[in-house]
Amino acid sequence: MTTTPSLLMRWSRMARSFDLTSSGRLEAARAESLADLDRWRQGGAKPGESLDPAFIDLPDRLLADYGTTRLESELFAILQTARRIREAVDRVIVLGIGGSYMGTRALFEACCHPCHNELPRGERGGRPRLSFEGFTMDNDSAQGLLDLVAPAGKPRGDDLLDRWAVLVVSKSGGTLETAVATRLFLAALLDAVGGDVARLAQAVVPVTGKAGRLAELAKAIGCPDVFDIPDGVGGRFSVFTAVGLLPASIVGIDVVRLLEGAAAMNRRFREAPVADNPVLQYVAVSHLAEVEAGATIRVLSSWSNRLEAVGLWYDQLLSESLGKAGQGATPLTAVTTRDLHSRGQQHQDGRRDKLITNLVVGEPRRDRLALPKLGSYGADQDKLDDLVGTTWPEMLAAAVAGTNEAYAGAKRPTADILLPRIDEHVVGQLLQMLMLATVVEGRLVGTNPYGQPGVEDYKRLMMARLRP
Ligand code: PA5
Repeated sequence: MTTTPSLLMRWSRMARSFDLTSSGRLEAARAESLADLDRWRQGGAKPGESLDPAFIDLPDRLLADYGTTRLESELFAILQTARRIREAVDRVIVLGIGGSYMGTRALFEACCHPCHNELPRGERGGRPRLSFEGFTMDNDSAQGLLDLVAPAGKPRGDDLLDRWAVLVVSKSGGTLETAVATRLFLAALLDAVGGDVARLAQAVVPVTGKAGRLAELAKAIGCPDVFDIPDGVGGRFSVFTAVGLLPASIVGIDVVRLLEGAAAMNRRFREAPVADNPVLQYVAVSHLAEVEAGATIRVLSSWSNRLEAVGLWYDQLLSESLGKAGQGATPLTAVTTRDLHSRGQQHQDGRRDKLITNLVVGEPRRDRLALPKLGSYGADQDKLDDLVGTTWPEMLAAAVAGTNEAYAGAKRPTADILLPRIDEHVVGQLLQMLMLATVVEGRLVGTNPYGQPGVEDYKRLMMARLRP
């Protein structure tokens, strides 16, 4: 039987002192967030209003379709294409920016082997390596990836281990960073398949909106598989569309379990009272820390390296959703204990403008490492003999407790999101929780969480220089 461990929240005495009794406002914000979905379905967006709430019940809908109309379902198509690509190539390059790649990166780092790309194919379970480009215009990093897949002057063979594919992800289909990288990597890929456009088409999978330049390009190339980013799902909320699910499935992540985790969080969000509702609790603590203690900086402090990319994904989710009209907290990702040696001083002693939310993981996925004895080369010179046999999780637990105690001593508010372990079901819960919390907070404070009008300015001014 598969167990379904649940994510939980708890917070420090300092954070508990916030007035968490205003549950009526939280319930109203939840109701408004859910009503957005009905409003969107009925085509009820106001003129000029961004409204993208279709991510909310997307996991439930994908699972229901898969369970009923399996062969025609979107999830079945994703799994089929993932299998085709997995068996055909040894590296997949995702081209995308912002919401079009950060969720994939979060899933990859959280759920795959930490050294996935370095392992030989057999030890990767026959799954391709995964690389990312098209999220900036850095000459040397693009060249670096080309060195791997299309080394200049060294034609590669046509073994499975030499073959690669490209997933181009862009909802608008027109984002410059992704579009220029697409041209670059399509040219290299065409070269790699000996100029054969039919083979090129097999190795390119576009994931995009129904219309747009990328959709047109996909038609021109003749790509057999093209995935849609559905209307009503914005880029940073698209991790549970083909945007995240297709590459995740290619590298062997159990996407059904991911969606089941997200759907489980949806149920808790809809049904649980405020006191047992991780989404509403998280919104309450974050919001109250901001308004009652001036904590305008939200540090998401991961106690697992695996969750750093989840933090970076959340940085963009919160920034683009709530950073509007001079409002919105500033998110910051930290990985502890690493960053206690770079940011710890400031978090403990610096300006009182932070809420630290720890992502604490219960069980490691692998066997517990224990501190070994020193070998025959020494006799306790490092003064660690008294700790021989102490496990890595025990040391980390001491660090979590010690750090929280130090913050409490300095009256710094902290909260913990407790993840029983890191697996697909828990990661599905976590990502859905953070997306729901973001829109609920938007409705709570009167900021539309959808759309990102501010980002248009740099694009316009950049293009004005490129095309004077
Ligand atoms: O949340 C968003 O909409 C953005 O972060 C987009 O994902 C990002 O700007 C990329 O846009 P596109 O997918 O249209 O290339």
